[in-house]
Amino acid sequence: MDDRIVTGDALHEEEIIEQSLRPQILDQYIGQQKVKSHLDIFIKAAKLRSETLDHVLLYGPPGLGKTTLASIIANEMGVQLRTTSGPAIERPGDLAAILTSLEPGDVLFIDEIHRLNRSVEEVLYPAMEDFCLDIVIGKGPSARSVRLDLPPFTLVGATTRAGLLSSPLRDRFGVLSRLEYYEEKDLASIVERTAHILDVEIDKNATFELARRARGTPRIANRLLRRVRDFAQVKGDGRITEALASESLEMLQVDRLGLDHIDHKLLRGIIEKFRGGPVGLDTIAATIGEESHTIEDVYEPYLLQIGFLQRTPRGRIVTHAVYEHFQMEVPER
Ligand SMILES: Nc1ncnc2c1ncn2[C@@H]1O[C@H](COP(=O)(O)OP(=O)(O)O)[C@@H](O)[C@H]1O
Ligand SMILES: [Mg+2]
Repeated sequence: MDDRIVTGDALHEEEIIEQSLRPQILDQYIGQQKVKSHLDIFIKAAKLRSETLDHVLLYGPPGLGKTTLASIIANEMGVQLRTTSGPAIERPGDLAAILTSLEPGDVLFIDEIHRLNRSVEEVLYPAMEDFCLDIVIGKGPSARSVRLDLPPFTLVGATTRAGLLSSPLRDRFGVLSRLEYYEEKDLASIVERTAHILDVEIDKNATFELARRARGTPRIANRLLRRVRDFAQVKGDGRITEALASESLEMLQVDRLGLDHIDHKLLRGIIEKFRGGPVGLDTIAATIGEESHTIEDVYEPYLLQIGFLQRTPRGRIVTHAVYEHFQMEVPER
């Protein structure tokens, strides 16, 4: 499933290449104007007052630039970035060890913060609020609690599932930034920037051709560029033209809107077996042989976003746009 060329998650081999493509400062970060202008002000204000930046929660679908922003925040503040993730911190002691090793002003980035367990979360509350740790020394009747001061720090949390965050944790963030799917022109600029870094020649029209198929997601845009570059080198003279881009993406089964064979299977399944719906999630899952939660978490969000699927109390329905996209007749109801 995760080998989909259009997945928003990073593929196994992509981690290293992504490092080199990450914008380092806010000015290089394309799009997301609202998030960017807010962060810009908060960062400047914190620096003017020589304070640490408020804790920041970044949320939104995978591949939109949360990790990138975390490192930009550290760069702009001129401090170190410490990176960990919810599932990596197993016990309260693990988090205490990280917190006590921070330098004043550091940014602690916790990815997938919705996956922190409760006992670890409880260590985080006083740390975020008062920059201190409450530790219990000893056992039984002689046990006592000691407060330990921590250096002031900024927590940057990232999550794809803000709804799963407990409210005490969410309430302790001063800045909540929701990343949106990118507009086509911003994705085209991202493709152009990446092509420049990778030293690939690409026509302007071709950057838009890739942008249209990138599902609003920079990570996918960059991936499509790297795949199309292979075609350009093998089949052409290395230069990516619009025709070459669209031809190679057709071969990779990424259609004009960035839908792949799985999206097609899902949408056609609802049309062919259920006359376009409404049909329940579990029924769809059984018909196409996928898990319900995979459909809900992975396949559906983009289809809902572009208005191809609708959720109704009676189940999912495909919209007229889907029939148009497939050049099919809309059935009479
Ligand atoms: N605003 C942006 N401008 C340019 N490139 C971006 C932007 N946002 C993300 N990227 C690129 O997309 C890739 C994925 O971003 P990342 O921050 O890892 O996403 P997330 O953490 O939200 O899954 C990065 O390698 C980066 O190069
Ligand atoms: Mg990330």
